[in-house]
Amino acid sequence: MLQEDKAAILPSSIPFVDGVVVPFALEAAVCALSVNEPGPCMPGVLTPALGLPYPSLQDVPSTGKTLVVYGGSSSAGSMTIQLATAAGIRVIALAGAANLEFVKTCGAVAAFDYKDAHVVEKVVQAIGTTDFVGIFDAISLPETFELDLAVLTKMGGGWLACTHPPPKENVPENVKTGMIFAVNDIAAPVWRNYVTEALEKGKLKCLPPPTVIGKGLKFVNEGLKKSKEGVSATKLVVEL
Ligand SMILES: NC(=O)c1ccc[n+]([C@@H]2O[C@H](COP(=O)([O-])OP(=O)(O)OC[C@H]3O[C@@H](n4cnc5c(N)ncnc54)[C@H](OP(=O)(O)O)[C@@H]3O)[C@@H](O)[C@H]2O)c1
Repeated sequence: MLQEDKAAILPSSIPFVDGVVVPFALEAAVCALSVNEPGPCMPGVLTPALGLPYPSLQDVPSTGKTLVVYGGSSSAGSMTIQLATAAGIRVIALAGAANLEFVKTCGAVAAFDYKDAHVVEKVVQAIGTTDFVGIFDAISLPETFELDLAVLTKMGGGWLACTHPPPKENVPENVKTGMIFAVNDIAAPVWRNYVTEALEKGKLKCLPPPTVIGKGLKFVNEGLKKSKEGVSATKLVVEL
């Protein structure tokens, strides 16, 4: 059963194999961007509360705020770039070298390879004097936390919103951390007021594109195997 406020009408021009990449990523992205008060995520871990505006169907003026998205080519990361951009937030994305153009397609104003030896300096320079909100780390591994904390330290603090429990060590006092819990009523207004029309207008794109593994339940195991091996800028889909 699906709640009415967690659904939208898929325009007839968009096949289901494309549309299916949207829902879970959308919940995750809204939870990363628009929660206003930290709430429970898991024992001892609160959700982040970046309190950023919802995406708009209009071309909104820039808020002057900058958000860094680490893992911009992931499902959660690329949707966060799309929604933040549609809310007037300037996004700087970190992704693999092969996906820098992809994250720009999602709306990032600048994109850097997370393996670049000078990536921290480049990100700090790109943030410049804008109002820095913090980092959404869609990957949330020890090595990504290291880079996050280096940027946040240089910027004098900010949010570190994670998809897994945030780091506990070497976190400066002026850095606020949290882990998203990607199902929240906070996303309902986005489903209600944004998704259908944004899909129709092409403002919301079904990204990353799907890779269809096959048709039928017998392909689920193969999909799980491929998922475990890791994917890059795609969503694995089994058609039924
Ligand atoms: N807490 C929650 O509620 C919640 C909600 C949603 C997702 N999650 C978690 O969030 C994570 C992301 O989920 P997803 O479905 O968005 O992932 P995904 O689409 O499978 O992520 C794939 C991307 O991860 C990037 N990547 C892989 N290893 C990396 C590394 N070591 N450093 C930097 N980037 C790396 C790759 O980037 P390149 O190919 O460009 O290198 C790739 O495009 C998962 O661990 C998931 O379990 C949590």
